[in-house]
Amino acid sequence: MKWFFSKYLFAGMIVVVSSIAARADVLPAPSRWTNQRGSVLEIWSITDGQVRGQFTNNASGFACQGIPYPVSGRSAGSAVMLVVTFAQCNSITRWRGQVGGNQLRANWNLFYIQPNGDLGNLPGADLFQRTN
Ligand code: BTN
Repeated sequence: MKWFFSKYLFAGMIVVVSSIAARADVLPAPSRWTNQRGSVLEIWSITDGQVRGQFTNNASGFACQGIPYPVSGRSAGSAVMLVVTFAQCNSITRWRGQVGGNQLRANWNLFYIQPNGDLGNLPGADLFQRTN
């Protein structure tokens, strides 16, 4: 009898632990995020994984500051991919990262046109904190 109950208790614990582990933090919409450079990411909607929002670059050392640009991307589980075209700067940034609680940690690549016409690719990382 004791063996019977402990067997079911063990099985129940496995179910609880695995369901907690499987629960990914998903990018919420609407939500607002600010990164360590002071740039602001607004997520307006996510429909069938399709992300829509706005990004305002406030990072020193970069061009196109203080201008809101459309954001598009994909959200799947805790994984997020975002793209912004900085039209006035002839550049595009793509972020790929993960949501964890109130943080969005993402690596990025800034693709830009070099003076000689070649494509430049500047990599970096951003840590966004949820601010709303
Ligand atoms: C440009 O300088 O060509 C456009 C602005 C790029 C700003 C980048 S995007 C990745 C990184 N994170 C920020 O908040 N700003 C810079």
